[in-house]
Amino acid sequence: MAKLEVNVDHVATVRQARLGREPDPVTAAALAELAGAEGIIVHLREDRRHIQDRDLRILRRTVQTRLNLEMAATPEMLAMAAEVKPDLVTLVPEKREELTTEGGLDVAGQKEFLQDYVRRLKEAGLTVSLFVDPDPRQLDAAKGVGAAWVELHTGDYAEATSEAEAQRLFDQLLDGARHARSLGLRVKCGHGLNYTNIKRFRGRPEFEEFSIGHSIISRAVLVGMERAVREMVALIS
Ligand code: PXP
Repeated sequence: MAKLEVNVDHVATVRQARLGREPDPVTAAALAELAGAEGIIVHLREDRRHIQDRDLRILRRTVQTRLNLEMAATPEMLAMAAEVKPDLVTLVPEKREELTTEGGLDVAGQKEFLQDYVRRLKEAGLTVSLFVDPDPRQLDAAKGVGAAWVELHTGDYAEATSEAEAQRLFDQLLDGARHARSLGLRVKCGHGLNYTNIKRFRGRPEFEEFSIGHSIISRAVLVGMERAVREMVALIS
């Protein structure tokens, strides 16, 4: 059965809007686990726009399922991963000016660098996943540099503007997943998945795990709104 890992970055985005203490991504992670999430994901970005170092260190001590750290392949993050020891490190491309991760990592274009970087992570006892487009060349390169997992980038699929385009992009993901599995890689996927576009993935054993953040946090805000307002109304009246 496919597993869900929940990305709690955007709980921290709301907190950082006021630079305060709430909502706490650590509490959100615990609630996600109670609801059945099999893993918690955070992306510690270079600019620390949402998750902070402190969140990551606390999550390492509190997460009871698995902690997946998304990060750029930089020396700073290598040191952080070696210290915190998440259960999985997912390497993603990161640009300071982007709103969110744009596209997969170009593994084929930086094979030597990533081979060395992945080796260092493995020497620190870590398991590595690479966030890549479902392109056989990138998947072959991911295997070549020593990754155990790939996370297929579903962002283009999620942004498809017609059924035909969505089906074509889904078929590419399916072919990518099959190719990755034939190489012995484990396969997860994520980015832009929501309560509608996830349906095409149901019953497809090629995808072991899903990494979903924004749509879950967005829904949590709305399904929790009525209760939150009622509680305040009761306090005021
Ligand atoms: N996977 C990766 C590699 C990501 O960078 C992100 C966004 O942080 C996600 C999954 C989750 O994407 P979303 O928030 O759109 O569900």
